[in-house]
Amino acid sequence: MEGIDASTITRILDKAEEYVEKNRQVDKKSKSLTGRTLINLFFENSTRTRTSFELAGKRLGMDVINISAQASSISKGETLLDTAMTLNAMQADAIVVRHPSAGAVQLIAEKTNAHIINAGDGAHEHPTQALLDALTIRRKLGKLEGLKVAICGDIANSRVARSNIYLLKTMGAEVTLVAPPTLMPTGVAGFGVKHTIDMRAGLKDVDVVMMLRIQHERMAGRGIASVRDYFHSYGLDRTKLSFAKDNALIMHPGPMNRGVEIDTDVADDISRSAILDQVEMGVAARQAVLELLLGS
Ligand code: NCD
Repeated sequence: MEGIDASTITRILDKAEEYVEKNRQVDKKSKSLTGRTLINLFFENSTRTRTSFELAGKRLGMDVINISAQASSISKGETLLDTAMTLNAMQADAIVVRHPSAGAVQLIAEKTNAHIINAGDGAHEHPTQALLDALTIRRKLGKLEGLKVAICGDIANSRVARSNIYLLKTMGAEVTLVAPPTLMPTGVAGFGVKHTIDMRAGLKDVDVVMMLRIQHERMAGRGIASVRDYFHSYGLDRTKLSFAKDNALIMHPGPMNRGVEIDTDVADDISRSAILDQVEMGVAARQAVLELLLGS
């Protein structure tokens, strides 16, 4: 999302709207990308992102192949670039890549001629997540510009936070980051957004509360001392939510750790929680990205 301008974002979201409606029909398929090949290349686990890219490709008529690192020749010692170039040689039109290292997806994009789509690279970016989040907010609240959005939790390790910060700032929303000092990224002052370690202050009058998972896999020693203390100070529950606007939207990219960063009571509040809407929007947002990259 870094460097993507507002008109491009709006174009993608507008395109995605068409697919939201189509995906609610009995027949969800179109033929716009028939004959094209999409490869999902995932070096990290995924439920939502991988499945939604697969559905997105299939609903546009593409042939879709899924490769997970555990089951590929990567476990035999092949390098990342050799794997990517092998898939490229099979005339893949698009390769969706998720990798634990920041910059890995960019590297593949520079060495191949397929369209490369970032499905999350380390703690760097997860652009289609930001797009589906924006689509969800725009449909629920009617706009992005001028909204107050709090992004809360493990910001330091979160690619979701980074992509959302870029997108929301570009679209004119006001972002506040809320995290304990150990999970606030170094250099946060340079992000051009507000930040606080006090969740109640951070949630004051916001339109959207975006929660993040505690990413134990990226902690490397810095992290949380106790889940109980963390939930007490930073877990989203009714009391903390009451500082936000009355109709504030509750979001979480998933997978959720209930009782760690979010209380079941608020996660499952169907009048406020947009968590499953986010999942639904993920398919449409990814269809829009594929169509705009590969379509005629
Ligand atoms: C996120 C990810 O993988 O970055 N999940 C997702 O794609 N919906 C967030 C996370 O893993 O916590």
